Amino acid sequence: MSNDDAVLDVQGITAGYGGPPIIDQVSIKAKKGEITAIVGPNGAGKSTLLKAVAGLIRPAAGRVFVEGKEVTTQPVEKRVRYGIAYVPQVENVFPDLSIRENLDMGGYARKSGVSERIDQLFELFPDLKESSHRRASTLSGGQRTMLALARGLMVDPSVLILDEPSVGLSPKFQSLVWERIEQIRSTKVSILIVEQNTRETLRHAQWAYVLVLGRNRLEGTGQELLQNEEVINLYVGRLS
Ligand SMILES: Nc1ncnc2c1ncn2[C@@H]1O[C@H](COP(=O)(O)OP(=O)(O)OP(=O)(O)O)[C@@H](O)[C@H]1O
Ligand SMILES: [Mg+2]
Repeated sequence: MSNDDAVLDVQGITAGYGGPPIIDQVSIKAKKGEITAIVGPNGAGKSTLLKAVAGLIRPAAGRVFVEGKEVTTQPVEKRVRYGIAYVPQVENVFPDLSIRENLDMGGYARKSGVSERIDQLFELFPDLKESSHRRASTLSGGQRTMLALARGLMVDPSVLILDEPSVGLSPKFQSLVWERIEQIRSTKVSILIVEQNTRETLRHAQWAYVLVLGRNRLEGTGQELLQNEEVINLYVGRLS
């Protein structure tokens, strides 16, 4: 059973890749219209947690609910229908297809309204509209990230899961990515994000979890965590 207003409710997930568990009894929630961040050191299990939520790996224990419905044992395609969209860190677009074709493919789980949805997303991502016939392989890293975000949104998800969307991008594009994420949030989507830049991420997060060695370590509002001694010492540093 799931409670309260969490769109995504992950309860005590234990998961890994066949060996010892990588994440151990991890619990997180994500609410509608909020940015929920997962931060923590390299190898903490952040990507593994996202994969378990998206259905790419099957948890050994724990439960996952989307809008109160249990999806723990559902395959990826089924979870998409329940409202989970997952944008992986790499290989998140089809390089040989055009922008428009990528969006078409992203809308495969829609019963109807694919071209209407593409038009809506072109308003949010005007640069994509201008080059809608270009092959994804010819796009810059920043444009490709925008396409990956738009592709994830094709199914009208209730939860958009993003694994390091701005990795490798210039500071200019990183702030553009945050701008778009904030716009997406304002459409009442729940966003679950992992990012490297802890300070910037906590600035945007309504709620955040610190994951260490595969376990829940700390949680709080982004502002609270920005002032937490442990977070400052380990991940954020002091502003001199
Ligand atoms: N496909 C896999 N098969 C086996 N082990 C894996 C696999 N992917 C990740 N791991 C291991 O799981 C652990 C956690 O990795 P994960 O990618 O979840 O961490 P992360 O917190 O996302 O790290 P980063 O900040 O570097 O992205 C690491 O020890 C990693 O080696
Ligand atoms: Mg990762």
